[in-house]
Amino acid sequence: MALHTINPTQTKAWEKLQKHFAELQSVTMQELFLKETNRAEQFNIIWKDFLLDYSKNNIDKETIQLLVELANECGLQSAISDYFEGALINQTENRAVLHTALRAKADAVINVEGVNVIPEVYEVKAKIKTFTNEVVTGVRKGYTGKTFTDVVNIGIGGSDLGPVMAVEALQFYKNHLNVHFVSNVDGDHANEIIKKLNPETTLFVIVSKTFTTQETLTNSETIRKWFLQSATQEDVAKHFVAVSTNMQKVTEFGINPDNVFPMWDWVGGRFSLWSAVGLSISLAVGYDNYEALLSGANEMDEHFKTTSFENNIPVILGLLSVWYNNFFGAESEALIPYTQYLQKLAPYLQQGTMESNGKSIGRDGKPVDYQTGTIIWGEPGTNAQHAFFQLIHQGTKLIPTDFVGYVEPLYGDWNHHDKLMSNFFAQTEALLHGKTAAQVQAEFDKQGLAPEKAAYLLPFKVFTGNKPTNTILIQKLTPKSLGALIAMYEHKIFVQGVVWNIFSFDQWGVELGKQLANSILEEIETESVKNHDSSTVFLLNYFLKNKKK
Ligand code: F6P
Repeated sequence: MALHTINPTQTKAWEKLQKHFAELQSVTMQELFLKETNRAEQFNIIWKDFLLDYSKNNIDKETIQLLVELANECGLQSAISDYFEGALINQTENRAVLHTALRAKADAVINVEGVNVIPEVYEVKAKIKTFTNEVVTGVRKGYTGKTFTDVVNIGIGGSDLGPVMAVEALQFYKNHLNVHFVSNVDGDHANEIIKKLNPETTLFVIVSKTFTTQETLTNSETIRKWFLQSATQEDVAKHFVAVSTNMQKVTEFGINPDNVFPMWDWVGGRFSLWSAVGLSISLAVGYDNYEALLSGANEMDEHFKTTSFENNIPVILGLLSVWYNNFFGAESEALIPYTQYLQKLAPYLQQGTMESNGKSIGRDGKPVDYQTGTIIWGEPGTNAQHAFFQLIHQGTKLIPTDFVGYVEPLYGDWNHHDKLMSNFFAQTEALLHGKTAAQVQAEFDKQGLAPEKAAYLLPFKVFTGNKPTNTILIQKLTPKSLGALIAMYEHKIFVQGVVWNIFSFDQWGVELGKQLANSILEEIETESVKNHDSSTVFLLNYFLKNKKK
């Protein structure tokens, strides 16, 4: 079944939200907190070891009711069923969207065009498990009989960002294998990694759903060439494995068919870490931890599928994002994890969010006349505080921000952790309350600052506050809670896409640049610049001339 096509701005709920917004936009959060002393109790969701406090938003009870009405009018409930049941909701590619099937329980039945995909999923999982165990325990060896010490994941986009983010996030749970990632077609990237490696003890995992991606194929060929300087063509089979849907191209590359981990076209690249694309995660942390990651995601799936919208974490996050994007005109959202382990979460979710919802054509094939996909960005706190928080606190832009933190640190260093978390709590409080002119003046009086100087400095030191934040406080960073966190954001993206009436699971927008790069490459290689705009001709000629210097 296709997803409903409904322009959200034509719904009754949208009209009501516009009126509601007109009344609420001038009410500050400081006023809301004064009026409703129990906001935190009203606007929180506790689910397993997750707490979402969304009280520090420009909302009241009516906002949530109306946003839920909007979700209902946009057919969110039936869209969720279609999503989980394998309907072909990636309509422009005529595909189901079933990354959730990859983490479903073994007894689940999920049909794609009449065939239950779960047995196949479990077959591949069994293969990942056996392979992981053989590499980690040293049963599987390299071409000179040595055990593997290093693993290199060669892939880009969804075939890189998920694994690199999760391996980084789960460092605490890592085994002895050093896991590296080569993604950029920039040869310096591959060469920097290669120089750290010993071909005898390195395993290469080539990850490409299509096995046609320029970056991944170029990097794989460069690395194979380097490998063949000390090994033979036959040894390739021992050191190179692949994750792909394209069996023919993989075997042409010289990979032993037994070492190919299949995936399916119903797994989108940016949601693929749950498939064999996550092989390097499994290798890095061991299969049991990898399985725990999947089971955390599955628990979040159940929460999303079965919980009323008012108590549903991804639904509330998605609807709040629509509220700021479409009513307040917020252009971007920040994501600040208060753990260094999640330093790659924002880049990972940039692909998830922006490749999914960066669309301007509605599901009816017509241009939308409202804003869609938000820009997402962020860095871990407290580093971020010393980099760009100035703009969030005192700049001219509204940037709703998610704060993700953990109750427990992993090494039990409470001295550090209490400091870290005091910053975590202080920032959302400061963003809410700001600092009034009276408070600044009181500080000046206390310091005995000269009145003239105080009058000059005062406007610079005032913080308006009233900056929205969500606080997501999780007990501990474990494989399981990481799985649930990622799934939470995946479903938030889905909610936004349904409401915005766009197709979240295709990515036609990345094609044009790829096509042009291929034709320009030919011009560079043959040194014959063709017909382009004057800027591109000028740049190409400059490059060709100076290349020879
Ligand atoms: O960037 C576009 C894209 O198609 C992503 O969606 C995908 O994750 C990436 O390229 C890599 O593709 P592949 O796994 O086929 O090499």
